[in-house]
Amino acid sequence: MISMRINANGKKGTISRYLYGQFTEHLGRCVYEGLWVGEDSPIPNTEGIRDDVLEALRKLRIPVLRWPGGCFADEYHWMDGIGPASERPRMINNHWGGVEENNHFGTHEFLRLCELLGAEPYISGNVGSGTVREMQMWVEYITFDGESPMANLRRRNGRQEPWRLPFFGVGNENWGCGGHMRPEYYADLYRHYQTYVRHYGGNKVYKIACGANSDDYRWTEVLMREAGRFMDGLSLHYYTLPTGNWHGVKGSATEFGAKEWFQTLKHTLRMEELIVRHSEIMDRYDPEGRVGLIIDEWGAWYDVEPGTNPGFLYQQNTLRDALIAGINLNLFHNYSRRVKMANIAQMVNVLQAMVLTEGKKMLLTPTYHVFDMYKVHQDAELLEVAFESPAYTMDGVSIPQLSVSASVDAQGVIHLSLCNLHHAEGAALSCELDGSGARSVSGKVLTHAALNAHNTFEKPDEVAPADFRGAAFADGKIRIELPPASVVVLALA
Ligand code: AHR
Repeated sequence: MISMRINANGKKGTISRYLYGQFTEHLGRCVYEGLWVGEDSPIPNTEGIRDDVLEALRKLRIPVLRWPGGCFADEYHWMDGIGPASERPRMINNHWGGVEENNHFGTHEFLRLCELLGAEPYISGNVGSGTVREMQMWVEYITFDGESPMANLRRRNGRQEPWRLPFFGVGNENWGCGGHMRPEYYADLYRHYQTYVRHYGGNKVYKIACGANSDDYRWTEVLMREAGRFMDGLSLHYYTLPTGNWHGVKGSATEFGAKEWFQTLKHTLRMEELIVRHSEIMDRYDPEGRVGLIIDEWGAWYDVEPGTNPGFLYQQNTLRDALIAGINLNLFHNYSRRVKMANIAQMVNVLQAMVLTEGKKMLLTPTYHVFDMYKVHQDAELLEVAFESPAYTMDGVSIPQLSVSASVDAQGVIHLSLCNLHHAEGAALSCELDGSGARSVSGKVLTHAALNAHNTFEKPDEVAPADFRGAAFADGKIRIELPPASVVVLALA
């Protein structure tokens, strides 16, 4: 029996709702087909944005949406995506499959999507191949209220009022696809470009600098030292690959056994080391924790589904992805003093998606269900949870069997999220609640007998949350029986 103690008086700060952010790039079928079908499509839509996907995503209470990339951002020239759609230039999407980009989804369409979702926009600007002037004009176009060339152009394109633009990224992966820069060079460019990302009227822009690729600690060191005082956030990108190998086989999304399951979750847990070590560097330059660590790309990256365009990064999503999501979200909660935003890659049809589409069909993935179950933690107060996880061991290598986080919401309800990583063994817990009068427990569980269970267009509800019957109060404590390979969220009231 594993002993656990939740201290309801031990509030450790707010879990920012922005940890539940999403990312949508002009990549494969994420924007086109997945979100944008155009007003003339037979697929029911609102101003070109498909209704089924909108409706599903609205339920997740997505707080922030990052766009237009990714690698696409550093080749994107925003002026190509405004004005009458038929006059917008058609071009090649060089990064992602070399397919045509017709620019029908541009600034107005993205900001409308955000409005329809109730999400705040996070735009990534072009440092790699764009000019300072272009970036300055984009912010002016979106946010300036007075008389100016860009504000007037926006009005001519049909939008009178400025939009709010709370988040702006100055480049993306400038150590790689965004220009192959050295940190010293990018730090100077960041200082330069961000100067012209202006706060017009009441619009205060939270400026995010391009941060490190996984364990590139030198990047964080140089950026914090040379440009820390000019930024509000510094990003971090880390993807989970089953093999951990970027240059060979990454591993199938659906064809795997216990060994690959274990390896993948082990790679997922590496996120903790990355957060801790990047935070240590940030703490030295910013002890007050003013600069947020913004994990604006994370999730599972597999080999693409057989027969699909390798440049489209289309992959299925199984119970394993549910665990990947749950583990990462628990880590983001537990390190929310420094981690202020996270954006899973990507929202639709690309990498670890919430929804998959095929023509007019749509399905919800296991990852969607975890985001739905976990959304109760948004803006809640993080609570201290004391416990010692048993080890989950395979071939002499051990990782923790459990991943856990807890929070209390504005109504005083405590939510406890538990992931049992073990592919075959359940876990029995006895949980004490200090400083809380909670006496009732209810919850949801996401699990399946098959590790690689997933939803298909033929069987869209193969993996779906069910009421959890494995928790009950006894002698003032909560007894919890977690099934193997499961994600559980409990409400204690
Ligand atoms: O999310 C897919 C790609 O991964 C993004 O375009 C890029 O930033 C990262 O390498």
